[in-house]
Amino acid sequence: MEDWNARQYIKFEDERTRPPRDLLAQVPLERPRRVVDLGCGPGNSTELLLERYPHAEVIGLDSSPNMLRLARERLPRCEFLQADIANWWPDATTDVLFANAVFQWLPDHTAVLRRLLEALPEGGALAVQMPDNTQEPSHILQRELAESWPWPKGAVVPPAGRGELPLPEAYYDLLKPICSHIDIWHSVYQHVMPNAQAIVEWFKGSSLQPILSALDAAGREKFLAAYAEKVAGAYKPRFDGKVLLRFPRFFFVAVR
Ligand SMILES: C[S@@+](CC[C@H](N)C(=O)[O-])C[C@H]1O[C@@H](n2cnc3c(N)ncnc32)[C@H](O)[C@@H]1O
Repeated sequence: MEDWNARQYIKFEDERTRPPRDLLAQVPLERPRRVVDLGCGPGNSTELLLERYPHAEVIGLDSSPNMLRLARERLPRCEFLQADIANWWPDATTDVLFANAVFQWLPDHTAVLRRLLEALPEGGALAVQMPDNTQEPSHILQRELAESWPWPKGAVVPPAGRGELPLPEAYYDLLKPICSHIDIWHSVYQHVMPNAQAIVEWFKGSSLQPILSALDAAGREKFLAAYAEKVAGAYKPRFDGKVLLRFPRFFFVAVR
């Protein structure tokens, strides 16, 4: 996958930062020593961690140079680290691992989650949020379009969307044996978007990235136009012209 378009991602920063606020509100630690924001992106979630834990050492970690550039501009005094979560380990003083909207991108993410929780000291917390929207029209349409797209011969066709998340029961069975407490929940957000085109812009900054990076400029334009038409058919305007983007998300906070 090509590097993230960080500026596209922050177009909807208020909406995208609501889930990490809700997640952080459920983290029970008051005075952690070290807090790591896994998949920190442009630093929006890291900023929340710095506000909540002014006395902790807060570190943002991401694999994307574009995202890290923006995060460093935004929070010049914070430490940021380029790494792949799949082969990164927290050091012994890390008390909180915070991961908003990142684990859905990792292959075999359940094994990584278990390994990271296992690495935390007693009382440490792993807090995770992942979009659970693969059955929403926004994603069904992305998959349908990608599957029927006339990809050029020999093109590396990206996987048509992420797989479904395992059920909450699977996370419970995986993580509860190695933690003292686990809180699991879903929230369904209804983001008020100015129009259907805004939904296209939203996903240009996230789930459409693998598809768009497999196309050239003309192909991208064509794909986005076709997607926009389908999205306009699925998300009808309300009385004032705005549209609601229904967005289910899955959360858990596991305390070692
Ligand atoms: C959707 S953004 C989330 C940004 C931010 N945490 C937030 O709350 O809005 C996902 C981020 O995860 C990063 N990411 C994806 N896979 C990663 C991996 N294997 N290791 C580290 N970062 C990764 C991406 O570069 C991107 O910045």
